[in-house]
Parts: sequence; structure tokens; C-alpha cells
Amino acid sequence: MGIVQWRERTAKIEVTAATSEQDWASLEQKVAQCQRCTLCHSRTQTVFGTGSHRAKLMIIGEAPGAQEDQQGKPFVGRAGQLLTQMLKSIGFTREDVYIANILKCRPPMNRDPAPEEVAECTPYLQQQIALLQPQLLLAVGRIAAHYLLGVTLPLSQLRGQRLSYGPLNTPLLVTYHPAYLLRNPKDKAKVYQDLLSVKRELYS
Ligand code: URA
Repeated sequence: MGIVQWRERTAKIEVTAATSEQDWASLEQKVAQCQRCTLCHSRTQTVFGTGSHRAKLMIIGEAPGAQEDQQGKPFVGRAGQLLTQMLKSIGFTREDVYIANILKCRPPMNRDPAPEEVAECTPYLQQQIALLQPQLLLAVGRIAAHYLLGVTLPLSQLRGQRLSYGPLNTPLLVTYHPAYLLRNPKDKAKVYQDLLSVKRELYS
């Protein structure tokens, strides 16, 4: 390739990257102003998502809790600290991955998301997935797994399978939620096995 073509190609890549950053910013702005369901009345702020916009791995949880609602970031409470440790166990930091939730607003008293809230909110998650185009999705917990897959099977049956999600058939794995692990630490070994599968999927 000649120097002129190389410069043109590099410029094109930079423009594409800038466009995608604008798309992320405008989506985040849209979410921050969202009033599509009643959770907008009780939230402190929306919790959009954090991490690298170039991540190969996207982790999807259920909904913000009290600390996430206060800080505007996903998984920052006790469960979030455990998620950070889980990632570390396979050599990842939170900055290596992208983390988001099914719902962008905290359900009062940490109740399960209502189906109508999920219906209003999932278009945002779908747009995040479309922008990121991750190589792999990891659903943490029953709620995320059920809504992404449209099934109600027990988590124990969904773990250990290479599933897929959405129009791009993005590979999807399922594991236990870190909040569940805080209550059932004996299952940490199973989650470690799931995380090894994540690593295999990303690097084989
Ligand atoms: N649990 C979740 O599913 N998501 C968070 O952001 C925090 C706790």
C-alpha cells in the first residue's frame, strides 16, 4: 500500500472511531433523560454502563442497586467488588471489559425488574450491544439470562452451554450472579469454571 492510500485508510478508521464515540455519547445522553417507565421517578440517576468501547467481552447484569444508583456506575457495591475479583481471577480488569445491566434504573427496594420495565429498557441495551459488537456476552444471574434468552430454565441448566443472542448471533455464556455467590460461596468454583470458558471462547 502506498503512503497516500495508507493515510486515507488511517483517516477513515479515525473518522469511524470518532463517529462511534459520538454514538455512545448520544445514547448515554438519551438514557440519562429517559422517562419511558415509572422507575425514572425513583432513581437518583441512570446507570448506563462502564468499560472499554473496544471490549471483546460484555458482561450483563440485572439492574442497579442502591450503590449503583448513587454512583451512576454498574456493579460498584459488594457484588460488584466480587465481580471485579472474578474478572481478576482470569487476568482481566474492569477496564478490559464492558459492563451494563438489563435495566438502567434501580427498581425500588431492589425488587425484580417488571416485564414492562424490561420491555421499555432493552432497546438501550440492544443499541449498546450493536455499538460494541462484542465477541462474547456473559449474562450474570437468572434475570439477565432469562431476558436475553427468552427462556425461564433454571440457571443450573443454562450454565455450561454456548448460547447466542440477537441479530448477530453473538455467543452468550451464563453464570451465577456475584450477589448469589456472596450468599452461596460454595458455588465459586463453578463460576471459576465458567470464567475459564469465557477465556477459552475469547482466545481460541
Ligand atoms: N447487580 C446487578 O445486576 N447490577 C448492578 O449493577 C449491581 C448489582
